[in-house]
Amino acid sequence: MASITLRDVRKSYGNAHVIKGVDIDIQDGEFCVFVGPSGCGKSTLLRMIAGLEDITSGSLAIGDTVVNDLPPAQRGVAMVFQSYAIFPHMTVRENVAFGLTIAGASKAEKDAKVAEAARILQMEHLLDRRPSQLSGGQRQRVAIGRAIVRKPEVFLFDEPLSNLDAALRMDMRMEIGKLHQQLGATMIYVTHDQVEAMTLADKIVVLRDGKVMQIGAPMDLYHDPANLFVAGFLGAPSMNFIDVTVKAVNGNSALVFNDALDPVEVSARRGPFRVGDRAILGLRPQYLSIAEGPGKLHGTVALTERLGAETVVEVALRNGKAVIAALSHDAVYPIGSAVDLGFDPAQAHLFQPEE
Ligand SMILES: Nc1ncnc2c1ncn2[C@@H]1O[C@H](COP(=O)(O)OP(=O)(O)O)[C@@H](O)[C@H]1O
Ligand SMILES: [Mg+2]
Repeated sequence: MASITLRDVRKSYGNAHVIKGVDIDIQDGEFCVFVGPSGCGKSTLLRMIAGLEDITSGSLAIGDTVVNDLPPAQRGVAMVFQSYAIFPHMTVRENVAFGLTIAGASKAEKDAKVAEAARILQMEHLLDRRPSQLSGGQRQRVAIGRAIVRKPEVFLFDEPLSNLDAALRMDMRMEIGKLHQQLGATMIYVTHDQVEAMTLADKIVVLRDGKVMQIGAPMDLYHDPANLFVAGFLGAPSMNFIDVTVKAVNGNSALVFNDALDPVEVSARRGPFRVGDRAILGLRPQYLSIAEGPGKLHGTVALTERLGAETVVEVALRNGKAVIAALSHDAVYPIGSAVDLGFDPAQAHLFQPEE
């Protein structure tokens, strides 16, 4: 097992600066997820750790060894890709054993390691099939099996579930979580899916445009996002962003309002804010409720969606903007009816507008 340390890592293709100075510390045995929108540099970063791409500048260490110039085979890493990259003309057994065959392992060693991987992945009954006789989830399991038999210190996954349908994705997500618990290896997992990030990670690295936006435990990022980007990216439905004006500042809190929002005092740690400033009030849909008495936000119901476990209500605010409330109870509000929404100011976030 091994820790991974990135220090001011950069990558450019000619004039295109793709990774713009990234510092990340991943502990031994940690499950770390790189998450961010398509094109933000997740795969590039992972491929640099694997040794499949050079690093333009900076330093990358696995354990105590700087590996900038070490070839992939000597890094103790194994990578699993979105496209399974398994060989159609080989059986599952041959595919899983492929890396061992290349390395000249004996038949006895291959049999033992393949059997162990098959047991871990519950695919003993599939070993003599060919990939064409497997489902997408089973094929991805073969690709993971091929990584397991190499006993890597570090597993690298690049969107391994993106080709699977939604139900299977959830099953495989849980299996990868279990695999991490069983093997205890360091894992880095790349995805654009915030649900995978929230559910799998010990540590999430949120990336945008080649830069780290925030690093932390899933619930720390969820409850204390450093900026608008992280706030909007994690959580579903997305956090509501409401334009407000600062009416007063009081130490670490600010009194804010708008035409549809009664003045409310909220924490203002992500400041500085001054009286008269425009700011963005962030409210998660789950923390909004239909107020019994007069609430703070005033509007009318625009849409109701009953999802079973929760009911999502879109409210058109008096000032023309919309907010989404996710209510835990089963309730129907007629479209056009006036509602007031309440929230606990301790659950509100105040951000500076982006430039
Ligand atoms: N070989 C390359 N040459 C030039 N630009 C590249 C190359 N590979 C990737 N890029 C660019 O680098 C950026 C990051 O790509 P990538 O790491 O694949 O993003 P992600 O995996 O987050 O979707 C993209 O803008 C992409 O176009
Ligand atoms: Mg990618």
